[in-house]
This record gives sequence, C-alpha cells and structure tokens, in this order.
Amino acid sequence: MRTLLSLPLSILLLVANFINHASAIVIDVNNKDSITHAAWVFAHGLMTYYNGNQTGQTPGKFVSPYYWWEAGAAWGSLIDYWFYTGDDTYNEQVKSSLLFQVGTDNNYMPANESTSEGNDDQAFWGFTVMAAAERNFSNPDTNQPQWLALAQAVFNTMASRWDMSTCNGGLRWQIFQFNNGYDYKNTISNAGLFMMAARLARYTDNSSYVDWAETTWNWTESVGFLDTESYYFYDGAHTEVNCAKWNITKYQWTYNAGIFMAGSAYLYNYTGSSLWAQRTQSILDSITIFFDSDTGIMYEVACEKSKTCDIDEKAFKAILARFMGLTAVLAPFTYNTIYEHLVQTVPGIAQSCVGGLDDVTCGTTWLEVGWDNTWGLGQQMSALEVVQNLLVQDVPAPYTAATGGSSPGITNVTGGGNVKVLTTGDRAGAGILTSIALLMMLGSSWWIAL
Ligand SMILES: *[C@@H]1O[C@H](CO)[C@@H](O)[C@H](O)[C@H]1NC(C)=O
Ligand SMILES: *[C@@H]1O[C@H](CO)[C@@H](O)[C@H](O)[C@H]1NC(C)=O
Ligand SMILES: *[C@@H]1O[C@H](CO)[C@@H](O)[C@H](O)[C@H]1NC(C)=O
Ligand SMILES: *[C@@H]1O[C@H](CO)[C@@H](O)[C@H](O)[C@H]1NC(C)=O
Ligand SMILES: *[C@@H]1O[C@H](CO)[C@@H](O)[C@H](O)[C@H]1NC(C)=O
Ligand SMILES: *[C@@H]1O[C@H](CO)[C@@H](O)[C@H](O)[C@H]1NC(C)=O
Ligand SMILES: *[C@@H]1O[C@H](CO)[C@@H](O)[C@H](O)[C@H]1NC(C)=O
Ligand SMILES: *[C@@H]1O[C@H](CO)[C@@H](O)[C@H](O)[C@H]1NC(C)=O
Repeated sequence: MRTLLSLPLSILLLVANFINHASAIVIDVNNKDSITHAAWVFAHGLMTYYNGNQTGQTPGKFVSPYYWWEAGAAWGSLIDYWFYTGDDTYNEQVKSSLLFQVGTDNNYMPANESTSEGNDDQAFWGFTVMAAAERNFSNPDTNQPQWLALAQAVFNTMASRWDMSTCNGGLRWQIFQFNNGYDYKNTISNAGLFMMAARLARYTDNSSYVDWAETTWNWTESVGFLDTESYYFYDGAHTEVNCAKWNITKYQWTYNAGIFMAGSAYLYNYTGSSLWAQRTQSILDSITIFFDSDTGIMYEVACEKSKTCDIDEKAFKAILARFMGLTAVLAPFTYNTIYEHLVQTVPGIAQSCVGGLDDVTCGTTWLEVGWDNTWGLGQQMSALEVVQNLLVQDVPAPYTAATGGSSPGITNVTGGGNVKVLTTGDRAGAGILTSIALLMMLGSSWWIAL
C-alpha cells in the first residue's frame, strides 16, 4: 500500500486512463450556479498541483515542471475565482503565497528565481498584485508590502530596463545578462510593461503611465512585432541584428494578443480615446485565429493541433480568457463578441475535462472528443478562466483608487525603482541552489526506482 500511495500523480493518472470511466461535467452557460460549480471543480483541480503549504515546501510555488511565472498567473486566476464566485476557500493561501515570493526588494525578483526570471515572468506576478488592488483583495498587514506598491515596484523595475542600446528601444526578454535570451527582445515582455502601465494609469489616475503605455505600443509596432495590417502579434527578434524584420519569429500566442487587447481596453476606459477603442476592436477582430473555424472553440494555433505545446504554452489560453473578460467589461462595445467566443468554447471544455482519477481532469486541447490524456496546472487554469469569465457582468468592474480600491501605493515614485544588480556572488549562489535542487531530484528518482 505504501508504494501505491507514494506513486507520483502522473502514474496514477495513467492507470486511471486504462480504467477509463468518464463522467461528464455539465456546464449550463445560462445558469450561474452551474458555471460556479464548474469553476469550483476546476479551481479545486488546479490546487491539487500545489503543495507549497506543506512542511519542507516553498510557499507560493508550484512544484516542477512549472516555472515560477505560472504560479504568479495561477494566483491571479484564483483572485478572480474568488471575485467571480464568492468562494474564498483559497484566499489565505493566495495571500500568503503572494507575500512569500516578493523578494528582498519587494518587487517580485526573489533571489531563488534569478537563474531564469525574465521580464515576462516578473510581469505575471505584477498582473496578479495589480488585480489584488483592483479587486480590493484583503490587504496585507501594515508591516508588509501592499498590493499596489508591489505593482508599482514591478512597473518601475521593468521600465528602468527600457533599453535603447539595440532595436531602438524595448525590453529584452531576460533581466540578467547571464541568462539565455538576454539577446532577444520579445512581445510578451513588452506586453507586460504595456499592461502594467495601462492598469496603473487607470487605477491611480496618473497620466504619466499612459505615456509609458504609448511608448511601449509605439515601439512594438515600429519594430514589427505588431503587424498593423492584420493586428497579429509575433513572438520577438534578436538584438544582434537590431530586431530586423526578417529576423522576427512569427509565432502567434494567445497571451500576447490577450494582454495587448486588455491593455488597450484599460487605456480606452481611462482616456475615452477613440484610438484606444479602435485598437481594442482591431485586436478583437484578429483573435478569431485562436478559435477553430468549425466549432468556435479556443485553441493555441501555433502548437495545439500538432501537439507540440510545451508546459508554459499549455497555460496561455488561460491568459487570453482572463483578458477577454476584462476587455468585455472595460470596453463594453466588445462584450457581445467576447461572450460569444467564450460560450462557444465551453462545450469543448466540458467534453475535455473528463479525465484522470477524479474524472474531471482537463486535457490540453478542447477540439477533440474526450480527454486527450494530458493533465497539468496550465490545463486546469485555462478551463477555469474560460468558465469564470462568463460571470464578468455579475460583479463590479475592476476598482480604481477612487471607486473602491483600498490598497496603498508607493508615494513619491520617481521611476527607476529599486533595481537589484546581481553580482557574481549571487550568481554562484543561484547555481548552488540549482545543484541542490538537481541532487534532490536525483535523490527522489533513485528512491522511486528502489
Ligand atoms: C494545503 O493546501 C491544500 C489545497 O488547498 C489543502 O487541501 C491543505 O489542507 C493545505 N495544507 C496545509 C498544511 O495547510
Ligand atoms: C528559496 O529557496 C530556499 C531553498 O529551497 C527556500 O528555503 C526558500 O524558502 C526559498 N525562498 C523563496 C522566496 O522562494
Ligand atoms: C506614439 O506614436 C504616435 C503616433 O506616431 C505619436 O503621436 C505619439 O506621440 C507617440 N507616443 C509616445 C509616448 O511616444
Ligand atoms: C535571428 O538572428 C539570430 C542571431 O543572428 C539567429 O540566431 C536566428 O536564427 C535568426 N532568426 C531568424 C528567424 O532569422
Ligand atoms: C469603463 O468601464 C465601466 C465598467 O464596465 C463602464 O461602465 C464604462 O462605460 C467604461 N467606460 C467607457 C469609456 O466605455
Ligand atoms: C475595500 O476594502 C476596504 C478595507 O477592507 C473596505 O473598507 C472597503 O469597504 C472595501 N471596498 C469595497 C468597494 O468593497
Ligand atoms: C514624499 O514627498 C514629500 C514632499 O517632498 C515628503 O514630505 C514625504 O516625506 C515623502 N514621502 C515618502 C514616503 O518618501
Ligand atoms: C505619476 O507616475 C509617474 C511614473 O511612475 C511618477 O513619476 C509620478 O511621480 C507620478 N505622479 C504622481 C502625482 O503620483
């Protein structure tokens, strides 16, 4: 018995697949209780991947193979889960997780993550603390960093990395020179800065942030990562060739479009400008490429049908769905189209989320009939976000400091922020941590083999 209980989840799921007894979860999009129930099931499934609250584990992180960014994203999904459904089961764990991972400079750059943390990774934690402020999520004690201040610190450190040395501006993918990808400028990192600027502008009613959002948009467009003929967003390009257009990696990811669309909607909502309305609408028109032309079901066009999506990419649909919901609220002229996309996706989710030992584990693709024998944090998060965003009209729009948000920010922000420059000593330290982690992994597989 002991052996069976200790088997990793993956093996148990495989066994379950052989037994294969599927019971569908019914999702009636016209019934709030039904939607809330489905969200409850998916949120519970998501949290089965979390053990950071157990002795010896690290609060706020999901276990390997999930990168740190995805934890930041998952806590954001759960803040919205609470806001949309009223179920506060996970709120304490979300709060303690967000506070545990702030890092010594209170800006989501914890030393443990320095071997892999890019601008995009930091941004995902920034989105989540921004949401905590906008949802009036329970404020930390006064001796702890506050949600809005954390969001501003993420913005300040990111903005301070704006880099004119190549490509005529933009953020690099990586923060640290010693990490692979420092020589790449990508859309997701700049999307992160754009969104933080847009949301901070609206929340704090400070138009300096609008300038930053414009600068980021203008650069993304001028470098060709945004094609304004089609409103497609491409992945990025290399600094060695100054982000030459021929060098652009032309993958399109759901999350880039989602983040730029919602950022535009925030700016429209804050400024009332017809330019931001037009941009929001143009991106909304362009995202039809992420919905199957026969069924209307959402999918990751660059990798899903070929079954080549990696662990990160399996979570991207969650990000698109979340930001479709916010767009629908902040730019109300988009609501009908967005609601229709979400509603058409739901039957795909209902037929996919019938796997695993619990019969409600979600697969990666929602285009196939039945579960596709995959499982994971990204799959659960994506299903959760689509379903809970059907409820956007049942709850207040994101608050601002003037309409109900209560989170204090950094006063006297002067830009620049508190940038920690890693020394070689820190780098060696990070290397040692990685080695310890590797040894522990080897240790545990040895134990399983035994
Ligand atoms: C850790 O979180 C899980 C999932 O929410 C919960 O079931 C469990 O009781 C928690 N354990 C501790 C020690 O808090
Ligand atoms: C960093 O890693 C160490 C070693 O695993 C752990 O004890 C500590 O809690 C981690 N800190 C954070 C902020 O993740
Ligand atoms: C962005 O580009 C537009 C159009 O060229 C220009 O009017 C605007 O001033 C630019 N904004 C910033 C902040 O550079
Ligand atoms: C872009 O340039 C880099 C650096 O020269 C090179 O490694 C990469 O293969 C190029 N990619 C494309 C799509 O041209
Ligand atoms: C901004 O969003 C709110 C909440 O949905 C909405 O009532 C308001 O009309 C929006 N503003 C604009 C300019 O559309
Ligand atoms: C926000 O939270 C504060 C502090 O808990 C509370 O006083 C206030 O009423 C809340 N605002 C809204 C709109 O719920
Ligand atoms: C902000 O600036 C004002 C005026 O310069 C100063 O009195 C105040 O102490 C500053 N607050 C902080 C937190 O630095
Ligand atoms: C507005 O935001 C900018 C950019 O962070 C900052 O420099 C400025 O001090 C802020 N203004 C006010 C009044 O808070």
